Amino acid sequence: MKTYNIALLAGDGTGKEITDEAVKILNAVGEKYSYTFNFEPGLIGGCAYDKHKTPLPDTTLELAKKSDAVLLGAVGDWKYDSLPPEVRPERALLGIRKELNLFANLRPATVYPELTSLSPLKSEIVSGTDIMIIRELTGDVYFGTPKGIETKNNEFFGFNNMCYFESEIKRIAHCAFKVAMQRNKKLCSVDKANVLDVSRLWRQIVNEVSSEYPEVELSHMYVDNAAMQIIRDPKQFDVILTGNLFGDILSDEASMLSGSLGLLPSASLSDTKHAMYEPIHGSAPDLKGKNIVNPIATILSAAMMLKYSFGLNNEHDVIVSAVRKTIKEGYGTRDISLPDTKIITTSDMGDIIKNNILHA
Ligand code: IPM
Ligand code: MG
Repeated sequence: MKTYNIALLAGDGTGKEITDEAVKILNAVGEKYSYTFNFEPGLIGGCAYDKHKTPLPDTTLELAKKSDAVLLGAVGDWKYDSLPPEVRPERALLGIRKELNLFANLRPATVYPELTSLSPLKSEIVSGTDIMIIRELTGDVYFGTPKGIETKNNEFFGFNNMCYFESEIKRIAHCAFKVAMQRNKKLCSVDKANVLDVSRLWRQIVNEVSSEYPEVELSHMYVDNAAMQIIRDPKQFDVILTGNLFGDILSDEASMLSGSLGLLPSASLSDTKHAMYEPIHGSAPDLKGKNIVNPIATILSAAMMLKYSFGLNNEHDVIVSAVRKTIKEGYGTRDISLPDTKIITTSDMGDIIKNNILHA
């Protein structure tokens, strides 16, 4: 029986509750299609800091590197807010992305027909939206140097460097064109080339790469306009390609099209076998232990793992269909509740989706 080794990094807050449900779902898929998923737990974020005085211990990195894929819950808790920046839980995320070279972050924003009224936008604007945001994840102002806070002219001076190597732009552009080829063959690259030199290079390289994908219709958009267009007419987008900082902002914005952060998964990929899958939401420490958070984003992240790490496209589709069926049947956690929703717990949501998989 084929065995897949998965590093299970639950993290902080509700991380354990949501990853428990994703494990339940992967085990159900394993049972149905005869695979073994072997989960090895590791510490990341605040819980790792508590034990090892670092949010990303070497043992966790080694575990992540030797695994076939990483499933991450979420990191962070208010109780770590006063820690120095180098050891805050969020640092672990940046560290693991860089160490595993996870440069391609795929963040789909899908609107479920049954849930269009959850969105703060009008249903007719969001219904039918299906966007894939491809965010570069290991470069840009997030990692650029020089950086720091110094004293200059007798006052404090803070600075970061927004920068990209040609090779970094090239590889993420190839990734985006490939994803566009699998979808509706429309790619919109987002930058700020009217102001930033780094964006001028970005645009030039994306144009060069586009010659290898003649079937993909490429457009460019400034990030301020993109922020507006995502709300004005989200259906115009198929795949959006952008840098690390703009992608961080636009993916949070796009999440509101679907109405709840609790629905949206992500995949972070490299050009080796390393890959990490996590919900795009945070650790919600205020909801910890209450069995009320929505596990769907994490379950769909596990589905993305099957597709992007293991090539199990059918099994991916089976999970997605089971989630859709569950929503269609009117079940929901509190964050996705409409007047007729049957409100259920985190673990019940996992059980119902599991049943829908086993009986599909
Ligand atoms: C995200 C988060 C992270 C980021 C933070 C927690 C470091 O906002 O994954 O979008 O900025 O990348
Ligand atoms: Mg973010």
